[in-house]
Amino acid sequence: MMDAISPVITVDGPGGAGKGTISRLVAVQLNWHMLDSGALYRLVALAAQRHGLTWDNEAALIPLAGHLDVEFLADSGNTESRILLEGEDVTNAIRTEECGSGASQVAVLPGVRQALLDRQRAFRRPPGLVADGRDMGTVIFPDAELKIFLTASSEERALRRHKQLKEKGIDVNVATLSKEISARDARDAQRSAAPLQPARDAITIDTTALTIDAAVEQVMQLCRDRKLVRV
Ligand code: C5P
Repeated sequence: MMDAISPVITVDGPGGAGKGTISRLVAVQLNWHMLDSGALYRLVALAAQRHGLTWDNEAALIPLAGHLDVEFLADSGNTESRILLEGEDVTNAIRTEECGSGASQVAVLPGVRQALLDRQRAFRRPPGLVADGRDMGTVIFPDAELKIFLTASSEERALRRHKQLKEKGIDVNVATLSKEISARDARDAQRSAAPLQPARDAITIDTTALTIDAAVEQVMQLCRDRKLVRV
């Protein structure tokens, strides 16, 4: 099967560790596809809200997740830039902390995770995929060629998230953000279905004191070491 031969790099870790930015830049350098799996959980949370469903209603959320009408519009760099939910552009709407919190609540439900499984694996296409999330290396792509686990101190992650949201025109207090991030980390790490943890064969990179470019270079060097890229 063609899918089976496409290489995958998984990038897992807590929110604000730099997964999204670093994964995207690595995908652009390699000219590979990109999966932002967190966006799928955020989309389920947003769709639930719009359909008047609570984030703990597993029986109703399973079919919603399974039939989610989503379109990822790729940009020229081969990575998705706009996200449509039921035809509406929700690229920014899913980035709020409320949606992030909703995402982490729907993400504890095993049935919801199961309903999103095939959709995530379908992103594996030639020439390769960079997959960003929490369980990419442990559950979704356990046979990935390279598994990265990105971390950063919680203070640094709160500051980065603040900056990121501000750039999107969303203003939140850093202290509030820090509390929300800790609550989300705890929920992600303690849930029984696919908890946030490094795969046994993952390489951990602490990005607290690293620039984005330096972190990308570390990942690219690992790609070279594993012959995923020439030179
Ligand atoms: O990465 P992002 O902040 O967009 O993810 C939102 C939430 O979705 C996370 O806090 C986590 O609970 C959930 N998630 C997950 N598994 C993934 C990606 C995200 O459970 N692979």
